[in-house]
Parts: sequence; C-alpha cells; structure tokens
Amino acid sequence: MTAIRHEFTQFPPSFTWGIATSAFQIEGGATADGKGASIWDTFSHTPGKIIDGTNGDVACDHYNRYPEDVAIMASLGVDAYRFSIAWARVQPQGKGAWNEAGFAFYDKLLTELESRGIAAHVTLFHWDLPQGLQDEGGWLNRDTAYHFAEYAAEVARRFGNRVKTIATHNEPWCTANLGYGNAQFAPGVADIKQSVQVSHHLLLSHGLAMRAMRDVASSAQLGIVLNQWPAHAATDSAADIAMAEFEYSRSVEWFMDPIFKGHYPALALKVHGDNAPDVQDGDLAIIQGKLDFMGLNYYFRSFCSAEVPPRQPENKLGTTDMGWEIYPDGLTELLLKLHADYDLPPIYITENGMANADTIVDGEVPDEARIDFVLRHLKAINDARLQGVDVQGYFLWSLLDNFEWNSGYAKRFGIVHVDYETQKRTLKHSAIWYRDYLVQQRADA
Ligand code: NOJ
Repeated sequence: MTAIRHEFTQFPPSFTWGIATSAFQIEGGATADGKGASIWDTFSHTPGKIIDGTNGDVACDHYNRYPEDVAIMASLGVDAYRFSIAWARVQPQGKGAWNEAGFAFYDKLLTELESRGIAAHVTLFHWDLPQGLQDEGGWLNRDTAYHFAEYAAEVARRFGNRVKTIATHNEPWCTANLGYGNAQFAPGVADIKQSVQVSHHLLLSHGLAMRAMRDVASSAQLGIVLNQWPAHAATDSAADIAMAEFEYSRSVEWFMDPIFKGHYPALALKVHGDNAPDVQDGDLAIIQGKLDFMGLNYYFRSFCSAEVPPRQPENKLGTTDMGWEIYPDGLTELLLKLHADYDLPPIYITENGMANADTIVDGEVPDEARIDFVLRHLKAINDARLQGVDVQGYFLWSLLDNFEWNSGYAKRFGIVHVDYETQKRTLKHSAIWYRDYLVQQRADA
C-alpha cells in the first residue's frame, strides 16, 4: 500500500472530514413503501439512455442496508455524511400528500448516524425530480420552483434540528445543461433555450426554498452545492480565449452572480442572446441572499479549444476512468478566484473523487491511483486555505461504488467496492488509507 503521505497538508481540528452519496445512486427501493417514480426511474428504464442498460431499481440496496453502510462510515472514522433525500420518496407526486413511510426511512438513517456520532449533511435535490411534476413540465414549469420550496420547508421542519447542513440543490448546472441541453441526463431534452430557462427556475427555486426554510425554526446551516471549474484557453488565440471566458461566465458566474450579486453575468447573457431566460420582476431579489455555507464539487478544469477537432490538454497527471483530466491545481485556482470575486461564506468541498476501473484482487481492491488523486486535491485545498480561503470540510465522492447516471454501474467512484450480484461491500485500499489519514490528521492537529 502507498505510504500515508500527509506531510503536505495540515488541517485544523475543526475541519470536517466527510464522505458523500446521493439517493438515486445508492438507495434502490424504487417502489418501496409508497415511493413515487422520479425522472431518473423513467429515464433509466428507457432503452438506450444508460450505457450499460441498467437502472436504479436496486442500486446498492442502501434502502435496506443502511445500518451496514453507516457502520462502514463509522469504521472509517468520518465526521460527516452527505446524502440526499429522494423527493418522490417523501412526497410521491412532488406536491400534495406526504409519504410518512418515506420520511420514516430518513428518520431511521438519521438515528443510525446519530448513534455513531456522524453529522448529517442533507441535499434536497440531487436530480431525481418526481415524475408527477415532470408530467406538468418539470423545471421548465415555474410552478415547480414553488413546489420545491414547500418540500424544502417540510424537510427543514422535520429534520432541521438533526442535520448540520441542508443544501437546496446539487449541481444545478447538470440538471440544466445535461438534462435539458444535451439530453445525456433525465429528462433527456436537447434544447438550449429550455436549458437556460430551467437554470433560472432552479435558481428561483433555490431562493424560494432558502426563504421558506428560514421561516422554520431549525439549526441547520443552509446553502447550495455547485459544480465548478476554472476555464482555460487551449492557446492564446482570440477564439480560444473568448471561448474560455464564455465558458466561465455561463457555468460558474451564471449560478454565482445571481446568488451573490443579484444579477446574471453580462457576458453569458449577451452570448445567450435570444436564449436568455424569461426573468420576472422580483426573481433576482428572491435568488440573491446570504448562504450559511457553499458546497463546491470539483472534478476537473474546462479546457477550451475552438479548433476542430478541439485541442486536448497535455494530461500531465493522466485521466480518470471517466476520461476526465486530473488537474488538482485547478481547485486552488478556482477557490482563489471565487474568494477574490465574491463575499464567500464558509466553503465545504462537497464532492471530489475519481472513477477507477477497480477489481478485487485476492480479496483486496488496490486503488492506489485514487489515494494519489485525493491527496493531490487535499494539497490543493490546503494551498487555498493558506492563502485565506475559508474551506471548512471535505467530502470524498463516494462512499460506495454506485449508479453513475448515464454510465450506469460501469464507472466506480467508491472507496468501498460493491459487488452488485451479492451486494457485498469490500473496503478498497483508498478507504483504509482515508481512515488512517484521518487518524494521522487528528493526531497532528
Ligand atoms: C457529481 C454528482 O453530484 C454525482 O452525482 C456524480 O456521481 C459525480 N459528480 C461523479 O460524476
């Protein structure tokens, strides 16, 4: 096994060490106890949408195996667990009646976490919109934002004193751009104008939900989780530079500026032209508002080449099994830029990790590449912290191998290997390393 190289990093005792998952990717129990269908149930059951032809019906069977999974987290010594609530499990149609059996599952999960001293970090929307709302237009329909706020308030009412944080959305960029821009994700629409409008409704729903949750007495810190990247021009040609500037504006600033500054970024608005969203009076005042924390998911940088075919980066550190360039310096760069551009609340790195073609060899899963990946990103966070960015925690993606959206089960992000035939969990070398690293960090802190 790789030696524990911790000398590059030194985090304070208050730093939160966590691990992350999401409901659709691990729970299974697709129709259990009154759960309604979500757009990912529909999408994954549509032939041709998921690369390996699989779906989320069983996934990691976490719905039944959550005590074992929480025991694994406890054995790793993590402080915190980030998971999402499946909206259609607790409100099958996305509006109207609540499903008590659905809430009971999360109640039991929270009790299990409490008994182990693991803090809960909840995400309200990790892409699994109730199909009932999709049938009425989904996120293209403004009403969905108001339904979302009711759901958010109900979760805050029930669980707001038992969880450390509540994030409204996970990576709204993906819902808008992959769900509505290129059809890779549910609901499978490819229409730029719709995707931009959806991004506005997602932001509106964030603002409405924050306000609705603020009205509920709860101790949870409230925020949002965004996926971001620095955008680099492949060359110093004017076309590449313009492409990188637009890319940063349409992805990072598009979500940050409305929340932190109350307006959409001028460059992206201009380039969107006729595709710019319909924004009603007062919407931006609803969206803009103080976050108690911001979650940042970081996987890669954006490398912008206007040439055909596009230039590729040199990939000095290689690529992951997703084909994503490994570029830890981008995380430091991004954090410093955000820190310079916005009045940031405390930041949690709510996701970071890699897909690796892991196999079991003599009962072990030697995923040294993942250890190296995580260490390099921890060093990148440490570097940003040393330069004044207030990063307060790190959540490794993911606890378990799981349903990687349109890649199905073919891509393994877990630090715990899952045999989908038997549901047997096997700690990978990275899980053992993470456990030992946390012991070491705490000893040094
Ligand atoms: C971000 C998403 O939030 C998560 O669901 C996904 O599995 C990881 N990225 C890896 O692609």
